Amino acid sequence: MTGFIVNFSLTVKNSEQEMTSSIKTFAGTGPLYDYLAELIIRDIDRLSHDQFYSLALSGGKTPLGFYSHLAARYSERIKWEKVLFFWGDERCVEPDSDESNYKAAFETLLANVPVPDNNVFRIRGEADPVVEAEQYSEVVGMNVAAFNDTPQFDLMILGMGPDGHTASIFPDSVRLFRSNKLYEVSARPSTGQKRITVTGRLINNSSKVIFLITGEEKAELVARITSGEPGSEKYPASYVRPASGQLLWLLDSKAASRLQNLK
Ligand code: 6PG
Repeated sequence: MTGFIVNFSLTVKNSEQEMTSSIKTFAGTGPLYDYLAELIIRDIDRLSHDQFYSLALSGGKTPLGFYSHLAARYSERIKWEKVLFFWGDERCVEPDSDESNYKAAFETLLANVPVPDNNVFRIRGEADPVVEAEQYSEVVGMNVAAFNDTPQFDLMILGMGPDGHTASIFPDSVRLFRSNKLYEVSARPSTGQKRITVTGRLINNSSKVIFLITGEEKAELVARITSGEPGSEKYPASYVRPASGQLLWLLDSKAASRLQNLK
């Protein structure tokens, strides 16, 4: 497999712990998507016959290219019956809304691969947010094996917004990294749109967390957060520190363009 530009790890001493962020950058999204697809296939193939692979999808637009790529190139290679799909967050809208993270993932991936309907656990954006945050926490608790008394996703894919938010944890709701719940209600500051979001407790209990980030507009933030520079603690994405230590940033060359200064 080709496509790596730079492959390095940064060990950053945050206030509480030493976190090694592995960073892989790719010339284009094609090699990036292939790398992630092969990582998922490898992890699924390691499962015993009665185990499932719990995958928490990111919302937003960035991962849609990856979802389409999986459907187009990997439909025959992935044991879809082994994959359980969850979401890191959902907008509080109807599932057929163009704002829905579920709809976006359904149209680009789920409708185009033979994943059993029972393996897809969508967050009901149309429901009462407080009720659904509680309800979905229970759904995840019942369908994802626990580690240290908390469900442990095999893989959580995250994006990052231009303000450093991740999932739907925004700079004004960093407290959700200290929540004891699994999912909570939040809101997008610029519009007030209600969201249901995974909390830091569940994010950081994941076996593996991958930030999938592309584009120049996020390059500065990526550099600040991965370097752990003073002041980066105001960005929610900087609180993603899985206890497993397996945090991987998959970047295209544009999103990685400011990392050069760190060499
Ligand atoms: C959402 C996402 C959110 C997203 C970032 C990046 O529901 O919007 O969960 O955290 O990952 O906002 O969004 P883009 O990929 O569209 O830039």
